[in-house]
Amino acid sequence: MIHLENVRVSFPNPGGKRSVVLDLPKWDVSAGRRIALRGPSGSGKSTLLNVLAGLLVPESGLVQVAGVKLSALSEVERDRFRAQNVGFVFQAFHLLDCYTALENIELGAAFSGELPDRERAEFLLKSVGLIDHAKFFPRQLSTGQQARVALARALATRPKLLLADEPTGSLDIDSGKRVLDILFQTAEQENITIVCATHDLALATHFDASVSVSAGRFQP
Ligand SMILES: Nc1ncnc2c1ncn2[C@@H]1O[C@H](COP(=O)(O)OP(=O)(O)OP(=O)(O)O)[C@@H](O)[C@H]1O
Ligand SMILES: [Mg+2]
Repeated sequence: MIHLENVRVSFPNPGGKRSVVLDLPKWDVSAGRRIALRGPSGSGKSTLLNVLAGLLVPESGLVQVAGVKLSALSEVERDRFRAQNVGFVFQAFHLLDCYTALENIELGAAFSGELPDRERAEFLLKSVGLIDHAKFFPRQLSTGQQARVALARALATRPKLLLADEPTGSLDIDSGKRVLDILFQTAEQENITIVCATHDLALATHFDASVSVSAGRFQP
C-alpha cells in the first residue's frame, strides 16, 4: 500500500538555511496493516502524513501509495487521488460548523466527487455510536464526540489508506481506546491500511507495528 524510497523534505528556517525534516531511505507498508507513528514533537510525524496524503511533495524520492506514484501526478490529479483513496483525520478535526454531524460525514463523500451517500453516513454514524446525535452541530458535541464524527467522515469515502494525526490527542484514555476500537473494526471489515500519529505509548501497543520517528528519521 505504501512504498517510499529516499524521501527527503526540507524547509527553510528563519536563518535562511534549510533544515531536513524528513529523510527516509526506504519504507514499505502492506495493505491492511495498522501502523502507529510515534516520536517527539517536531520529529516529522505530521510531515510524513502530509507526504503520504500527497498534500506535500518531497523535493526528492519516490512516494508510491496504492500502487500510484504520487510524484508523477499533477496537483489536480493528486487531489483526485487523495479524494478517492485516502481518508485523513486531522488533529483539530476541522468539522464544518454550520453542518450537522450527519451532513459532515456525507460531505466527506461529496468532496471526493461522489454523490452524497446518506446510507453510508448513517451506517458510520451508527458505528461510532452517535446516530442519536445526527442532527447535532459540532459545537453541540463534546470533544470525544467530535473526534468520532471526524473519524466517520474520513471513512465516508471507503478509503484504502486512513491517515490520522493524533486523533485521540484530546481524549482521555478510555475514550481514545474506544475511538481506536471503532477505527480498527471498520478497517478490518474494509481492509483499510492505517497510519496513525500518536504520542500515546499505551495506545500505540494496540497497532500491528509502531514506528519511532526522530529528527525526520525512523529509529531502529
Ligand atoms: N511549513 C513549514 N515550514 C518550515 N518548517 C516546517 C514546516 N512544517 C513543518 N516544519 C518543521 O518540520 C519539523 C517537523 O514538523 P512536524 O509537524 O512534522 O512534527 P510532528 O512530529 O508532527 O510534531 P507534533 O508532535 O508536535 O505534531 C518541525 O521542526 C517543524 O518546525
Ligand atoms: Mg504533528
